[in-house]
Amino acid sequence: METGAVIETHNLTKAYKGQTAVDNLSFDVQEGEIFGFLGPNGAGKTTTLLMLLGLTEPTSGSAKVIGIDPCREPVKVKRLIGYLPENMGFYRDLNAWETLRFIAELNEIPRSEADGRIESALKTVGIYKEAEKKVGAFSRGMRQRLGIAEVLIKRPKAAFLDEPTLGLDPDTTNRIIELIEFLARERRMTVLLSSHFLHHVQKICHRVGIMIKGRMVAQGPLSQLAEEKLGVGQESYTLEEIYLKYFQEE
Ligand SMILES: Nc1ncnc2c1ncn2[C@@H]1O[C@H](COP(=O)(O)OP(=O)(O)O)[C@@H](O)[C@H]1O
Ligand SMILES: [Mg+2]
Repeated sequence: METGAVIETHNLTKAYKGQTAVDNLSFDVQEGEIFGFLGPNGAGKTTTLLMLLGLTEPTSGSAKVIGIDPCREPVKVKRLIGYLPENMGFYRDLNAWETLRFIAELNEIPRSEADGRIESALKTVGIYKEAEKKVGAFSRGMRQRLGIAEVLIKRPKAAFLDEPTLGLDPDTTNRIIELIEFLARERRMTVLLSSHFLHHVQKICHRVGIMIKGRMVAQGPLSQLAEEKLGVGQESYTLEEIYLKYFQEE
């Protein structure tokens, strides 16, 4: 493995009652890199993210996130990483601003600093006008944006985003995708991005990994996977074509 890996796993495995959800997964993500984590439902993507965050223990193998073993120091990892789960849970009675202030307090961001970050995050994800609305009344898209705002106020070194654009309209989706690209490029944020929107993944990811039934069947830059699956000299290709090829072989 190259040095400078912000995320690295070695034979990471998780079995639930005899069923292997993640099978000997070894991969790494470098600083400032956007890694597209692809695969059908049930492939083991979320389980992998949970292990990387120390939210579930691996059956075997190991992982390191910013040099920390999430099994041994889960609290430390959770503090340093921005995590957007598949289904965000919020306190329904808090409004958006209060929700973010609560997150800021949990993360020990000083009050003087917090208000500026909250305002900027709400504007970035486009829900500043709804700052005083109760989260219980938010649509799925608005909750998703608030979840991304939570990640932003932490200013994390790395972010794990589990389907960040699911349920968003095309305009907001584009905005979020551009934002992820900006954060990686300008702030050197490392991103592990799970998404079914292959067109967007192709646009911003430096490398991708394709998971099928717990195994990562391919990983690398898109150009390399295209060469392997579609042949040399292919001038234009889509990630979707490559992705589907891997399925035909399983
Ligand atoms: N808590 C759990 N208990 C038992 N099986 C689980 C649990 N969580 C996930 N699984 C199983 O592990 C596999 C991988 O699931 P998951 O990581 O959620 O996949 P993905 O995020 O790629 O859709 C699936 O077969 C799922 O049913
Ligand atoms: Mg999942």
